[in-house]
Formats: sequence, C-alpha cells, structure tokens
Amino acid sequence: MQPRFHDKVAVVIGGNSGIGLASARAFALEGARVVITGRDRATLTRAAQSIGGDVLPVRCDMSDLRQIDALAGEIRERLGRIDVLFVNAGTGAFIPIEAVTESDWDRLMAVNLKGVFFTVQKSLPLMPKGGAIVLNSSIGWKKGIPTGSVYAASKAGVRALGRNFAAELVGRGIRVNVVSPGPIDTPIIGRTAGLAPEMIPALRKQMLENTPMRRMGEPAEVARAALFLASDEASFITGVDLLVDGGAASF
Ligand SMILES: NC(=O)c1ccc[n+]([C@@H]2O[C@H](COP(=O)([O-])OP(=O)(O)OC[C@H]3O[C@@H](n4cnc5c(N)ncnc54)[C@H](OP(=O)(O)O)[C@@H]3O)[C@@H](O)[C@H]2O)c1
Repeated sequence: MQPRFHDKVAVVIGGNSGIGLASARAFALEGARVVITGRDRATLTRAAQSIGGDVLPVRCDMSDLRQIDALAGEIRERLGRIDVLFVNAGTGAFIPIEAVTESDWDRLMAVNLKGVFFTVQKSLPLMPKGGAIVLNSSIGWKKGIPTGSVYAASKAGVRALGRNFAAELVGRGIRVNVVSPGPIDTPIIGRTAGLAPEMIPALRKQMLENTPMRRMGEPAEVARAALFLASDEASFITGVDLLVDGGAASF
C-alpha cells in the first residue's frame, strides 16, 4: 500500500517550529514532497535537515503579500502544484484590553488573519481538484480568556475563513478544514506578546487546570489531526473545526 501522501506536494506554512515542524515531518514520512516556510533562515535550515528527504525550505513572512507572491512563484517553478496546504503559522498575544496598542492589533492580525487569507488566495491557482487546505485556529476562539481578546478575535476569523473557503471551493473539489489546538507544548509561549518570562509558569499551571486531561498536548498530536484532515481518509469532510485540546473547550 502507498503511504497516504505518496507523490503529493504538501506546503506547511510555519514549518520550522512546533506544530508545523511536527506536521512537515509527518507529511515527509508519509511520502510527500514538503515545502516549509517561516521567517527565520537558521531554524528553516535546521528543520529541513532534521526532516531529511525531499524538503524545500522557503523564507516567507506571511504578513507581507509580496513575499507570499514570491513563495507561490517559487513553488510553481520548483514543484508545479500544491496538493495540500497547511496554513499553520501564527503568533500569540496575552495583553489586557487597556494595554493593547494599534500596532499590537495590526501586527497580530497581519499574520494570523490577513496572512492566512492571502496565503490561501495566492496558493489556489496551484491547487488541483482533490486538493486539501487545513487552517490552524485555536480553542481560543471558543473560550473567553482574560487578556486573550485580540488573539481570540484573529482565531475566530480563521475559523470563519475555513467555513467560507470550504463553501466557495467545494465545487472545485477542494476541501477546507480547521484544526483548533488547546495548550500544546511548543516554543510559542516564550514568543507571546504581553507575556513576561516570569508569568509563564503560572500560565502553564492555569492551562493544565483548564484541561481535563491535565497535560499539555504534543505537537505530533495536532499534526496527526492535520494530516487526517488533509488526507483522502477525510474525503467527505469539509468545513469542520477539529478540536485537539484534551477536552479543554468541551467540558
Ligand atoms: N501551542 C499552542 O498552545 C497553540 C494553541 C492553539 C493554537 N496554536 C496555533 O498553532 C500554530 C503554530 O504554533 P506553535 O505552537 O507551533 O508555535 P511556534 O513553535 O512558535 O511556531 C509558530 C510558527 O509560525 C511561524 N511564524 C510566525 N510569524 C510568522 C510570520 N509573520 N510569517 C511566517 N511565519 C511566521 C514561525 O516561524 P518564524 O518565527 O521563523 O517566522 C513558526 O514556524 C499557530 O497558529 C498558533 O496560534 C498553538
């Protein structure tokens, strides 16, 4: 039996860290030719080396439309098409309402919402019938969390994009689904706007208390969900939001 992604081109936006890296590794193990993106050249190179095999690392800041255009151009030239697009990259923020500045808002939305929209828009010309798109949202869009408003708004937008993309693309044979992780053990916490290092232990404790399984998820656990949604096993599934959260948003 062929692996699920034999000879497919899988593009993982934000594939040099955390959930994206675990997903890129899993796509490669299951036979895909993989493109990984991110802004940081060093981690991109390291990630490509650690995955091994047929991996193309491309630097791309998804808040910049010209860079998304250049990414699509490079994929067209090097690989010719995109069978699977996992729009995973994102950035976090825990900032009290009064402290949010316009630039905090713009910076976060430029990546988490505008970047997601235009990455899909500019990838579509390369996606044949049978293609699959998976967007990475968060259970943040379903829960009220103090200081989480800007991030949650961006991720609610991602969930809405998933549903609307799915409706618009179903006639073209392209499925679109969303994965919404709960607390996952990745470097994102250390990079979250508004979160000083000394606040991290208390936040982790609170996350565990709010998660019925009483543990953080592993990046590979989200990757497995994303690969399922991207695979032919999910051939009759489009427009859904799959929670990978140890029960955090459900009870
Ligand atoms: N970890 C969690 O608890 C959790 C929970 C719910 C949802 N999520 C979502 O899961 C996704 C992946 O996060 P993670 O936890 O795996 O965090 P991570 O390890 O920090 O990875 C974030 C990824 O996004 C990329 N990225 C950030 N800003 C970018 C930009 N402007 N342009 C292009 N790429 C950019 C990063 O690469 P560069 O830094 O090189 O650009 C990196 O590859 C995010 O959308 C996040 O919101 C995570």
